[in-house]
Amino acid sequence: MLGQKKTARSNGGLQGKRWLQHHIFSIKTLSLVVLAVQTSTMVLLLRYSRTSASGNHQQYIITTAVLLSEILKLTLSLGFLHIETGKMAKVTFDRLYRDVVLNVWETLKLAIPAFLYVVQNNLLFIALSNLDAATYQVTYQLKILTTAIFSWVILGKRLTPLHWLSLCFLMLGVSLVQVESSSWNENNSSLKASEVKGPLGDLDHPVEGLDESEDAPLPDVNEAHPNTEVSWLLGIFAVFVSCISSGFSGVYFERLVKKGTQPSLVIRNIQLGVFSIVFAVIAVSSDWSSIKEGGFFQGYTLTTWGVVLIQAFGGLIVSVTMKYADNILKGFATSLSIVMCTLVSWLVFGDAAPSTQFIIGTTIVISSTVLYGFAPQATVTSQMRGSQFSSTDSPHKV
Ligand code: C5P
Repeated sequence: MLGQKKTARSNGGLQGKRWLQHHIFSIKTLSLVVLAVQTSTMVLLLRYSRTSASGNHQQYIITTAVLLSEILKLTLSLGFLHIETGKMAKVTFDRLYRDVVLNVWETLKLAIPAFLYVVQNNLLFIALSNLDAATYQVTYQLKILTTAIFSWVILGKRLTPLHWLSLCFLMLGVSLVQVESSSWNENNSSLKASEVKGPLGDLDHPVEGLDESEDAPLPDVNEAHPNTEVSWLLGIFAVFVSCISSGFSGVYFERLVKKGTQPSLVIRNIQLGVFSIVFAVIAVSSDWSSIKEGGFFQGYTLTTWGVVLIQAFGGLIVSVTMKYADNILKGFATSLSIVMCTLVSWLVFGDAAPSTQFIIGTTIVISSTVLYGFAPQATVTSQMRGSQFSSTDSPHKV
């Protein structure tokens, strides 16, 4: 009886593998399309959730939302493992014990990206509390540059002159968008940040022309800074740090799921999730006094729950694109989401039409991303041959 069950399961596993091989292209394409839609929805919803609070409505605490989405991701990953093991609780526990507990060294490897992702996910909220959705997205495209640098440094991946050229164009495009959005910020005092109540922080470099109160507390990252210039700088800083974290963690995770000794995506996500929750709890503890005062769920609305849900779902989709596509193709999907977001904010939310400079900058960013993806690969170097990526599964192969 047990033998029959085992044979049925191994047949099922074989069929599953064959199905996967046949459908790998569609999984790859589908995951990229879903990622583009997820990124757009996430950015717009998160921006809305951070700027729609007005009057007496309290802002939710960023770290609590990040913790909830990490818990949700781990729960979903455990659910997937349970399905993968044929919905047999004992097999699921055995697999968890063997691959996560006993294989402690492999599990520990995930502590690094888990820490970086938790920081990055908190920074994402800070960035979108202080920057408009389009500026955030275009600037965040700089992660393609950091991904390329980390692939080069960590994996020995060689870039061709065309790759470097497209990266230069990428920076040009991002700069154009930045110049445009910073001058817009200077001239536009109606930025949502200014509507958010909250005292001016006691800054190291106070901005001229602002009232400074001796009793003013430090700026609260849970709210957009009331000064538009500081708000913009805070947002840009959050994006830059996220670009470094995203580039490194992406290359690191891709390497583990493609060539590591434990290539199971579900197990890798569980290993990552365990550490992510630990770090997210540490982050929540930094907001302990506010939580004690107003509760863990203060300021939560339906939109906040939507953000938590989409953030968790997005994380899982990202991991699928890393396994079946790669980090650069992931960059394509995000480029597509810039267009989607700009169109939706303009046509649906009635935001101001993008300026010519913004359109030129965004077009350069998207074109350089496409150019990078389609540029012919460099010949494989001896350094690369020794690395975890072979010429056939290079992280930049389209
Ligand atoms: O912007 P970027 O593509 O670097 O964002 C990656 C996102 O995917 C982060 O929110 C991270 O927490 C999530 N992720 C995940 N599981 C993975 C890899 C990434 O939830 N295995």
